[in-house]
Amino acid sequence: MPGRPIGQMLVSADRDRFVEIDPDKVSRGSFYTTDEAWLNAPVRAFLFDVFLTNTSALDPFAGDGHLLDLVRREFGVATFGLDIAGDKWARNDSLVSIPNAGGSGSRGSVIVTNPPYLANHSAKRKGVNDLVATYFDGSDYDNLYKIALDKCLAAADFVVAVIPETFLLSSFDKSRLAVVSVIEGDLFSDTEAPAVVACFGPAGVKQVGEFKLGNASVFNGSDSIGTLNEIFELRTGRARSGIQIVFNDPHGRIGLRAVDSHDGIRRIEFIYGDFEYKRTRIKVSSRLLTYLDVPELSDAQIQELVVRANAHLEILRAKSSDLILAPFKGNDKKGNRRRRLDYALARQIINNSL
Ligand SMILES: C[S@@+](CC[C@H](N)C(=O)[O-])C[C@H]1O[C@@H](n2cnc3c(N)ncnc32)[C@H](O)[C@@H]1O
Repeated sequence: MPGRPIGQMLVSADRDRFVEIDPDKVSRGSFYTTDEAWLNAPVRAFLFDVFLTNTSALDPFAGDGHLLDLVRREFGVATFGLDIAGDKWARNDSLVSIPNAGGSGSRGSVIVTNPPYLANHSAKRKGVNDLVATYFDGSDYDNLYKIALDKCLAAADFVVAVIPETFLLSSFDKSRLAVVSVIEGDLFSDTEAPAVVACFGPAGVKQVGEFKLGNASVFNGSDSIGTLNEIFELRTGRARSGIQIVFNDPHGRIGLRAVDSHDGIRRIEFIYGDFEYKRTRIKVSSRLLTYLDVPELSDAQIQELVVRANAHLEILRAKSSDLILAPFKGNDKKGNRRRRLDYALARQIINNSL
């Protein structure tokens, strides 16, 4: 937005309200990984294999160097850091390119990193667009972490990156992905961003240790959930063309709470009739709470549909350890990650429950 001073985050466009933020911290994504939960059993197993043939690690977004400290301690390898700020490391703009000639592997060191996260739209909302616009110009990526990941994968055969969980459902190329582990706890000292650890191997290689590339093994912490393809397959079901489902219908007979509430009690749910959301508040753009209808069904059939849809949703949640749903904000009061049901999946659940 032109004219807004850097460091003013828009919190309400209607009321034209802003709050002060730290522009350097936000534009550089300087939220440090102080917790060690990212180095769990599957990530450790992957790195163990990788460090059999490579003897150094590089963090191109090194910050305070927490990740490198842990890797050096656990695997006894040499470590190098780069950063755009501070005086601890050689200066480099790693969102432009990453020099990686050192180390022993064919393409230098193994990259272990936690890059900056910043969505293009939030850069604008947070008033730091001027600081990061050049990275997004001419790029198809909508978040700095994707640009960072792209540069890391161009610079190294092996990359282990702590990135937002939304990566899983994104269209980012996952052909080199071998392992992905969801971190449920709070990984960062000062943000609740839901994160995963993603481990990549070289292009053209089928397997790294026990892990296959291209159909990544997915873990919730250290618990195996299955493969990425199995989770995606849960999202594709019978498509029943011809049956009309109307979303955001103020007279709809089905309420849909499409997000888990902060209280940890009211989960995502299809509801017969009215629920806590006032029908008068529905807009065409409503995405979190709404009413919908399947006009050709009788009231009795709608009631039955609601029961079945909720049962189906719970099965999908259990089978995918919730990964089929996008994360929504941070954790609820009970410490569980909140989730959001997108309407494409809601539509598929209804179709499968008809
Ligand atoms: C999320 S922090 C991660 C720090 C470290 N990996 C850790 O977990 O403790 C991101 C770091 O990237 C640095 N950074 C941001 N933009 C950068 C850029 N374009 N090139 C190099 N470093 C950058 C920031 O200064 C910050 O130290």
